[in-house]
Order: sequence, then structure tokens, then C-alpha cells
Amino acid sequence: MVEICQQRCEYHARPLAVDVSAPRFEWQLASDQRDVRQNWYRIVVATDAAALTADTADLWDSGEVTSADTTQVAYAGSPLPPTTRCCWQVHAGLADGTQVASPVATFETAPVPNAWAAAAWITRRRPMDATDDHRPAPYVRRRFTVTRPARRARLYATAGGIYQAWLNGAPVAATRFAPGWTDYDKRVQFHGYDLDARLAIGDNTVGAVLTDGWFSGYVGPFDTREVWGKQPCFRALIVVEYIDGSRDVLGTDESWEAAFGPILAADLQRGESYDARRDLGDWSAAGVAGSRRWQPAVAVDGPAGVLVAAPGPLAEPVGELAPRARTEPMPGSQIVDFGANIAGHVRLRLAGPAGTIVRIRHGERLDADGCLYTENLRGARATDTVVLAGGPARVWEPTFTYHGFRYAEITGHPGPLADDDVTAVAVSAAVTGAGSFSCDHELVNRVHANINTSLRANFIEVPTDCPQRDERLGWTGDAQAFAPTALRNADLAAFYTKWLTDIDDTREPAAPLPDMAPCKILPWAVAGSPGYADAGTIVPWELYQAYGDRRVLRTAYPGMTSHVDFMHRHNPDLIVRNDRNNDYGDWLAPVDTPKDLVATAYFARSARLTADTARVLGGETEHARYAELADQVAAAFVAEYVGDDGALAADTQCAYVLALAFGLVPAERAPALARQLARVVTRDGRVTTGFMAVGHLLPTLTATGRHDLALQLMLAEEYPSWGYMVRAGATSIWERWDSWTAERGLQDPWMNSFNHVALGAVGDWFYRCLAGIQPLEPGYRRVQVAPAPPGSLRAVDATYQSIRGAVRSSWQVTADSYYLQVSLPANTTGTVRLPAVGDVYEDERPVTASAGVRDVRVDGSSTVVQVGSGSYRFTVRNAAVATSGA
Ligand code: BGC
Repeated sequence: MVEICQQRCEYHARPLAVDVSAPRFEWQLASDQRDVRQNWYRIVVATDAAALTADTADLWDSGEVTSADTTQVAYAGSPLPPTTRCCWQVHAGLADGTQVASPVATFETAPVPNAWAAAAWITRRRPMDATDDHRPAPYVRRRFTVTRPARRARLYATAGGIYQAWLNGAPVAATRFAPGWTDYDKRVQFHGYDLDARLAIGDNTVGAVLTDGWFSGYVGPFDTREVWGKQPCFRALIVVEYIDGSRDVLGTDESWEAAFGPILAADLQRGESYDARRDLGDWSAAGVAGSRRWQPAVAVDGPAGVLVAAPGPLAEPVGELAPRARTEPMPGSQIVDFGANIAGHVRLRLAGPAGTIVRIRHGERLDADGCLYTENLRGARATDTVVLAGGPARVWEPTFTYHGFRYAEITGHPGPLADDDVTAVAVSAAVTGAGSFSCDHELVNRVHANINTSLRANFIEVPTDCPQRDERLGWTGDAQAFAPTALRNADLAAFYTKWLTDIDDTREPAAPLPDMAPCKILPWAVAGSPGYADAGTIVPWELYQAYGDRRVLRTAYPGMTSHVDFMHRHNPDLIVRNDRNNDYGDWLAPVDTPKDLVATAYFARSARLTADTARVLGGETEHARYAELADQVAAAFVAEYVGDDGALAADTQCAYVLALAFGLVPAERAPALARQLARVVTRDGRVTTGFMAVGHLLPTLTATGRHDLALQLMLAEEYPSWGYMVRAGATSIWERWDSWTAERGLQDPWMNSFNHVALGAVGDWFYRCLAGIQPLEPGYRRVQVAPAPPGSLRAVDATYQSIRGAVRSSWQVTADSYYLQVSLPANTTGTVRLPAVGDVYEDERPVTASAGVRDVRVDGSSTVVQVGSGSYRFTVRNAAVATSGA
């Protein structure tokens, strides 16, 4: 049986505000059969689901399109009407002659820009004497009446700052930190919310709570705040569509009411202060009566940027942790250990007399006395405060802040707190489509788990460097290093699409790409550095490989050429000696590599990716121009740095790894460099790369025939290594190899995060090499499953959730047999390369007799077969298992 599932539009299952004119559709074919192929598809889009079945689609009927495409299929019907619910269905014809139809899915178009004229930016002005601890959060609301049955009601909302929208007594969504973080001078995102379930005929109340967030709160280091505005404001449209097709539109204006309530201050870095005695009661309940605390809202100038429908996901609660241990290092101060270093907040059940102040401080570690260690948070106060109102126990959690923490210190609570009074809530935007990986070596599994913990903690609006200290910025170097690993473990198509727009908003014309995005906080970082700026070529290319997304390439291409042309203009002899801006080199490497070498390698890489992108976009002349430049930079690199024996002027892992991974040396010279890399790794006996090369180290060793050395580095437990972190009790990936060492203790608190993603860039190798899953074509239409030789591992089981469905590679090795289970999604084909030769069976039959398996051949110490979609169980008996090799 074949079914169509996982229908999405612009990477969302049911988007409520789409403002691109040709939204893209995707679907998956699910089947337990082998060799399922789609010969054609037909997409129909209509404003009414009934029109789809009646074959009278009013928006688009693609007709039968001969194609195996199931992703990135762009709408090409009549212009989409705004604020409209569009129903869509896909029909597919399969190679065996059968046809399938999908369920009806929906997407909704956003209001057109002009529609926002009906909504003003509103707020309640803060008192002039607002201080850090008293920057009260405005509440705004509008009471309104619905007189007849509605068939659809939507809220479109945005803010300067962060808002949480409410309708009739409850928040309209569980998501956090809307409208998200952009350069608000350029672009402000809005979201659509479905009000259908809670809108009443009769009295209704819609409202929002507004806090500073990135807009007017603390952002980045150096006590920087009010980067985009002075105080939060809100703008919204409520569109009610009645059964007869007529509509009412209610926009924010001075007929809304505004009040200050219990939130005394809320800041992403400082924390939230809540005085329950100032509670506004059921302030957004339907039919709530007016009161003197509410005054007319005032219209203000909001952020200057254009309003756009948010393409990416908001953060949301993704998991809860119960206390693992509790201690009381000082009377009245409880320390709770949640067992993992997350981003999020603590939820408490509290009881006590009115006026009691309960304080929750957060930290990643404890000091030698068992007290909370917060020095490495720098200016981030990370403290939530609740003033109790008396009365029965009440559950409280902050809504407008997050902290990076494993431990919380709770002071001021009058009585003991039970374990179930205290919960840590992890918050992240990296929610869906997680890959999975496990093997028979616990250390590797722990590293994988720690990578995912840091991934979740650092994917909140932008790929951040860290979630705890006064930084939390979209550093491009960290992001490019980690992107391949992140994309293996989570579905980040929408997330990165949004962040690439942030890069594009940040960059200046005829300049290098930036060191971070958004960047208004640190203007000197707009002109980026080697390996950082290159995120603007690398991340779009990684997205293209993962999802086959050409649109991100098209958006990124002008930035790519601007960056590469700048590097070329300023470095005419092609060795990057000039204008390296804030050059960080191979950041935080235990062994330094000359910065010009690293910079030149990344210049060559970006030139190559720009050439490759030009080819995908159909610009052959541009392709030729940048390909020639890439060749020339590579040649200059060789002439400048590579000796006759393949030894590099800089005898470091980073230097060899970048030269090999970026293909900078001619094929005939690569083996000599690979031997030198093996020599250096053997000499060092440990990892000595920093952010710029760490993700390439193990894959390069594996690809050049030294998988044994790659495994050796992975399984090492001496400093510096991933194993060392694990042995030291890490539950996440540290910023530095020496964030803590047995000899020196904690690093300088000025720069010592225990939750940084970059050194976790090794996680791609788990999927790419240990499990051997790789796309042979962008978007995984053709897949390779080629596990590396087992070496000292006995088993690996990994599943990658590709945009076409799950790809699984699960192998085991025994004394005389090698087993490999492979699953490929319907409508894909694959090359399976088993690192063993012998008597090969599939599902207990000789492999040559197996349906769906073709072209069985032996290639050196591997058995190679071609397969169609479906699941296969290969066994090699009397196996000669490969010991090394690619
Ligand atoms: C960040 C890094 C970043 C760096 C640039 C740090 O403060 O945390 O991860 O790459 O600045 O040097």
C-alpha cells in the first residue's frame, strides 16, 4: 500500500500566514513495498475543499505533471487572494500504474501589506523613571462582540518586543518569544493564529502582554539595551469571516485598553519579575468588565522595518526535567540539579504569605562549596523573582525570558518544596524531524546526546553561540561549523531560511558577509571574518543538499558574490592577507594555524560554492567565472603552503584538514597530504582543531582511509577530546576544550560557556560516516548508504529523517558476519556499500535473487548494490570485513 503523507507548504504543516506569491508544496510517499516510484503528480488548490473533489479547483490545477518530484513544487495558479484559507490535494501516479490521492491539506495566505493600515502600533507608556527592576510590562486588550456565526477567525499579530497574545482567558498559542528576532529596522515578522475554537458569539476579549525582548531589552554583551526601540508596542489585525462570506476586521488602535499588571520587568538576559499581588485577574476573559486600572492605549511609532509573515518556527516548550538532586548549601537556599544543561526556565508551585519574595537564580555549574556558579554568565543576571500574593498554592513560570542552566537556586520560599513542585522546562525552536543515532559504545552515544542538548538550547530565533551569558548572538562562524550536524538531527529548513534572511538584511553592498546576524548590536561585526562570513555560502549550500531548496540559493547568491568579489578585490594575489576584519582564525584551537592559511582555504571554499550555486541557478557564465577563481585560489594555496612531499608550511591538523576537505590540492597530490594528516594526528594523539576545522577532521580521516584514526580521536578520553568532556560530567557541548580541566579547573569566566554548539560539529560524522548516510543528489532523491568499516565498534543504528522520508542504516558485526539493514523512503533509490565481502544474502536469500536489488558487485573490500525504495536486510556470511578505507 502507498499513502501520501507529511504534506507541507513552505516547510509548515498548516501555515496560517504565507506571504510568498508562489508557495512550495511537498509531500511524502509512505509504503512498505519495495521500489515504489512516482511517475507523475497533479496538485489542485481551491478556496473550498468541496471544489477539490468536484474537480473544480478555482485556484490551481497543475494537471498531470510527469515528474518524480515530491518537494519544492511551486504554486503556479492564479494570484492567491490574501487572508484566505486554501485547500490543496495532491494526486500521484505510481510506476506500477496505481494512483493515490492525499488527504486535503490547507495553507492560509497572509494579509497584504496595505491591510496593516487598519492597525496602529499601540502600547501603554512606561513611567519616565523606569529602572531595570521596574520596567513594567504593558497589557493591552480589546473587548468586542460577535453577533453572528463566524466560519473563520484569525489573529495576525506582531510587536516591537515580545508579545503573548490571549483570547477569552487563555494564550492563543504555546509558542514563545513572538514575533521573534530580526533586524527590526529592516523587517518585523508577524504570525497568524487560529481563533476558531475559542471565539464566541457574543462577548469576546483579545489581548496581549508586551515585554522588551530583543527589541528594547538587553541584547549581547556590554550592558547593551534599547537597540531598536525604547519600549514594547503591539500591532494586530483580527479578521472574522462570517458564514455569508462577509468580514469584520478589527485593528489595534486607541480604542484598545492598556494597563500595567503583575510583570514588573521581563528581560531575556536578566529574567522576569512577577508580583502576584498586582495580578489583573481574568483580564482577557470574554465579557470582562472594565476597571480603572485600564486606560486607553496610546498609538506610538513602532519599529521601522517592513512587516513580513514569519517563515521560521518560534521557540516552544520541548521537554520537562524533574529534579535529579537537591541540596541546601546555605540555610534557606535550595539548589536543584536538573541533570542536563538546557535553555528554558523553571516552573514552581509556590505557597506563602502575601509579600513573600521567592528568587530563582540559574547557573550551569556549582562552585567548590556547592553554591551556584554564575561568574561565567557575565552580565546576564538570569534571575526570576516572584512576589507571592498569599492564598492557596499557585503554579508560576516566566513567559518572556530564558536561561541556560542545569542548576537553579531557589531562595525565599517559606516552606520546603517537594520534587514535583519544581520542574525545568526546556524551550527550543528545533523541535521536529529529529534524526536518531546509537551505537554499541556508550561514550559516543553520550556525545551524540550532548550534541542534541546543545542543539536544542541554541536554536532559538537564530543559531546562537550560547544560551546562558550576555551574548546569545547569531555568530556566523559557530553556525556554519555546526550546520551540517544540526541538519542531521533536526528539521531546520524553515529555521535557517529565516536566518539566511537575517544575514541578507545585515550585509552591506560590495562588502564581506557579516560575523553575526542580526548585527546592529555590534556594528563592527557587519564586515565579517574568514570562516565566519563564509556561513553565507556554506549554510545555503548545506540547505540545498539537505532539502533540494533552490530558493535559498537564489536569495543568498547576491551576498555570496558580494563577499567573494570583496575578498578577491582586496587580496589580488589570492592569498588572504588583507581585510580579514576581526579574524578569529581556527577559533579556540589548542594549536594555532596561521590565520592567512585558514582565511585562504575559506576563500577558496566560498568561491567554489558560489560557482556551484551559479550553476544550479543556471548562470553558466558566472559559474565559469567563479569556478576559475576557485581554481586559482586553490592553486595559490598550493603554491604558497604545500611542499613537494605534501607537507604544509603549518604542520597542524587544521591546515591539512581544510586543504583536503575543501579539495584545494590536485587529486594526485591528495594522498600525500592525507599521509601527512595521519602523521600529525598520530603525533598529536588528540584533537587539536578549533571551530573552523573540527567538523571536517573526522570525516576527512575517514574519507582518506584512516577511519581507524578518526575512531581513535572519537573514543579518546584524555584532554582535549569529546570523551574528556563526557568524563568530566558534561551534559552538553562546551565552548572550549579546556572549559574545565583537572589541572587548571575552570577557565576564565569571561568566555567560558558550557553550552556551545561548534565543537559538536563532529555529529555529522556519526550519520555521514559511522552510519554512512549521504545524499547522492540534493534533497535525497538518490541516497548512499555506505557505513565506514566497523573498526572498534560492533553496531550502529541511525535514522535520518530526510525530506522524502526516513533513511535508516543499522549494522552489526560478529566474528564471521556483517549485517546491514537499510530503509529508503518510497520514490528514492540508493547505492548501498557494505564494508565487507563474502556470501551476501538479502532477507535470507542470495542477494542476486532479491527483488529490488540490482547490480551486485565487489569493489575492493566492499560489496556494492543498487536498490529501489523499501527495507532490506543484508547479511554477509564468511565475511572479510574491511578494516580501513573510505
Ligand atoms: C562567541 C563565539 C564566537 C566568538 C567570536 C564569542 O564570544 O561565544 O562562539 O565565535 O565570540 O570570536
